[in-house]
Amino acid sequence: MELMDKLWNAAKENKQRIVLPEGDEERTIIATEKIQKLGLAFPILVGNEEKILEKAKELGVDLTGVEIINPEKSDRLQDYINAFYESRKNKGMTLEKADKIVRDPLYFGTMMVKLDDADGMVSGAVHTTGDLLRPGLQIIKTAPGVSVVSSFFIMMVPGSKYGENGMLLFSDCAVNPNPNYEQLAAIAIATADTARNLCKIEPRVAMLSFSTMGSADHEMVDKVRKATELAKELRPDLLIDGELQLDAAIVESVAAQKAPNSKVAGKANVLIFPDLQAGNIGYKLVQRFAGAEAIGPMCQGFAKPINDLSRGCNSEDIVNVVVLTAVQAQAQNAK
Ligand code: ACO
Repeated sequence: MELMDKLWNAAKENKQRIVLPEGDEERTIIATEKIQKLGLAFPILVGNEEKILEKAKELGVDLTGVEIINPEKSDRLQDYINAFYESRKNKGMTLEKADKIVRDPLYFGTMMVKLDDADGMVSGAVHTTGDLLRPGLQIIKTAPGVSVVSSFFIMMVPGSKYGENGMLLFSDCAVNPNPNYEQLAAIAIATADTARNLCKIEPRVAMLSFSTMGSADHEMVDKVRKATELAKELRPDLLIDGELQLDAAIVESVAAQKAPNSKVAGKANVLIFPDLQAGNIGYKLVQRFAGAEAIGPMCQGFAKPINDLSRGCNSEDIVNVVVLTAVQAQAQNAK
């Protein structure tokens, strides 16, 4: 069964409450009908109810049974303002500023997740990645034992011999502009855990560079080398290796030449990029040139799942990201 089919079934088995703060956005409204009708989650739209229902009518969309919350009318608004103020007052937050900030749907939705009125959040059809991440980083924060929030893409090229039958996880392509070696190690470990827990594959993690096993000397290579050592030390149960060039990581014949003793080289199914420029360019190259389906960017490392959409997304993409968020929420609720 395809990965997404498996995840859809998993989402239906234990439905999660997923808040969509861009409640009056057309693709979001269309996706919400599908999520509700197929029983993939309990979607919650944030926004002005009349405006949302009017738009749904124009689109021919039936939102029967979908919860719609207008922050201005919510009886939880004051609780959210107070909780946000309490958590940020040592950073200079005042009650007056909190009162303005929390009325913003993205902050309101994040507070719903924080105070357990929702299990996860999906947004980004209109807002930028930074708009979503900032409230997440300020309010939800990282899961216990996790030092850094990062992102991953599930890249799928049907028929390809690379990775896990054409599926690879890429990280970090959307959050950390220039991680230090400790952060890079944390990103590698988080992505390996995502491969195991969400994609149900045994990760083989390649730490990418322009050097393979000492073929070049540069401070940029040193960072990847140190991150590899640290990640191996922290998680001896995982197969992590580096530094590896991309071809040595995924092509068996190149690996046999350049890294013959590596258990990862030539067979990697998780690719860790050294910084955001490499990661972001890398995933877009594979998406465009190889025609890969790029699912994400999904966040990992938050205490509760919140996820971003590409502004170019369609309603199907929103449904899939809601499903992935719901499955992440199930895993977190089970802990
Ligand atoms: N993990 C955990 N905490 C973090 C992280 C992280 N990766 N980054 C920042 N924080 C924390 C900070 O410690 C701070 O906490 P505090 O306020 O409680 O002290 C809080 O988050 C806010 O930090 P700032 O430094 O104020 O936030 P910043 O302005 O750096 O924004 C952001 C962080 C939004 C992640 C920024 O790094 C960013 O814009 N990243 C790139 C996003 C992007 O443009 N991606 C490319 C497009 S996506 C695509 O193409 C698919």
